[in-house]
Amino acid sequence: MHIRKEEIKDRAQVLQVIHDAFGQWDECYLVKQLYMDNDVLFGLVAEEEGTILGHILFSTMEITSPHLQIQTASLAPLSVLPAHQGKGIGSQLMERGIQTCRNNEDLSGIIVLGHPAYYSKFGFTSTSTENLDAPFKGNEFMGLEFRKNIFPTDGNVIYAKAFGL
Ligand SMILES: CC(C)(COP(=O)(O)OP(=O)(O)OC[C@H]1O[C@@H](n2cnc3c(N)ncnc32)[C@H](O)[C@@H]1OP(=O)(O)O)[C@@H](O)C(=O)NCCC(=O)NCCS
Repeated sequence: MHIRKEEIKDRAQVLQVIHDAFGQWDECYLVKQLYMDNDVLFGLVAEEEGTILGHILFSTMEITSPHLQIQTASLAPLSVLPAHQGKGIGSQLMERGIQTCRNNEDLSGIIVLGHPAYYSKFGFTSTSTENLDAPFKGNEFMGLEFRKNIFPTDGNVIYAKAFGL
């Protein structure tokens, strides 16, 4: 199994993986719209012998305040085929995805809405996002700051249009 950048030729298989992981099409519609709007930063796939077993997507996000405007990545969705879950594929996609974002000097961090027990393993905290003005609150709304306290405390979180927020 190896992790590589998602390519256009992967799209149909990727959408199937997302559908099978979530058991519904909602996340697939989101991904298609993000691509149509040109709001995807990058996607990664976990591939084994030509079969895609997992996928992760990062899209554009801004945090704006009167003093500062920063670019961050919105992590969504993360999907692993049910038969291949629990084998570390999701973790490998997370680690490579985080590293790729860190290597992009335009990005100040990553925001995710998801299971706290899962994402906290990769350094995401809800304390980093608790002062942000965002469509979400609570312990599932988490951030990973690439520099300490880089998220402006009075920042307004702006998701890509496809999220409909
Ligand atoms: C969440 C998901 C991507 C994890 O992928 P994976 O390849 O199974 O993950 P890994 O094998 O790297 O890690 C497995 C660990 O994650 C934990 N885990 C899996 N799903 C979890 C969840 N929903 N909440 C908390 N922990 C979870 C497992 O218990 C396991 O813990 P352990 O390492 O302590 O035993 C995968 O289960 C999936 O596609 N789920 C359906 C879609 C989904 O919910 N996506 C995330 C949206 S926030």
